Amino acid sequence: MKDIINIVEKTILERRTVKPAKMNGKIIDEEVFKKLLEAANWAPTHGNTEPINFFVIKPADVKKFCKLHAEMYKNFTSSEEFSIEKYNKILNNGNNVSHIIALGMKRGNNKKIPEIEEIASVSCAVQNIMLLAHSVGIVSYWGSGGMTYKPEMKNYFKLKEEDKFIGFLYLGFTDFEIPPGKRVKPMDEKFINWNID
Ligand SMILES: Cc1cc2nc3c(=O)[nH]c(=O)nc-3n(C[C@H](O)[C@H](O)[C@H](O)COP(=O)(O)O)c2cc1C
Repeated sequence: MKDIINIVEKTILERRTVKPAKMNGKIIDEEVFKKLLEAANWAPTHGNTEPINFFVIKPADVKKFCKLHAEMYKNFTSSEEFSIEKYNKILNNGNNVSHIIALGMKRGNNKKIPEIEEIASVSCAVQNIMLLAHSVGIVSYWGSGGMTYKPEMKNYFKLKEEDKFIGFLYLGFTDFEIPPGKRVKPMDEKFINWNID
């Protein structure tokens, strides 16, 4: 990689999604894990609403949680929609990850702050974790499959109607090489020089 300004740029460019199937079962040190949460805590937030509401599934509970998630998927999915491959995938996501962070957004009392800003703030928090994790050799996968957007998952984490549940962050280590990144849209389609006439 050329012309890297510093470690922050290097981390941003090199972080890649690594799925649970490619993780190796090694556990993240608790002190390091706490630092990941602290990084999330420093996400920007409009009006100091601090909407992060994350639920940490520790290594000892990861398999139990994935079983519970898979069963929830089975119980709340119609027989036409149910797929055994999907059930097994949810179940097996727990086999080799270290921690799972279930990602909730808690709406504050300040209704002047639009919901979209609360979701944006929580997304910044997730990226903070993924970047710090990558910089210390921890891999991550933000998954929004399974029961993510179903009311049962929201209820499970005691989130209210106005709150949001936005997925799971699977964290661990891998023995595989970090895959190369892929972006399909050219940058000039996304970043436009806007001329004022
Ligand atoms: C909000 C969000 C939800 C995601 N949900 C899924 C998912 O359910 N399944 C999946 O395969 N990848 C999911 N991803 C990961 C993307 O596939 C991944 O970020 C993308 O392929 C780009 O790869 P990179 O993270 O290595 O740059 C999600 C990413 C985001 C930001």
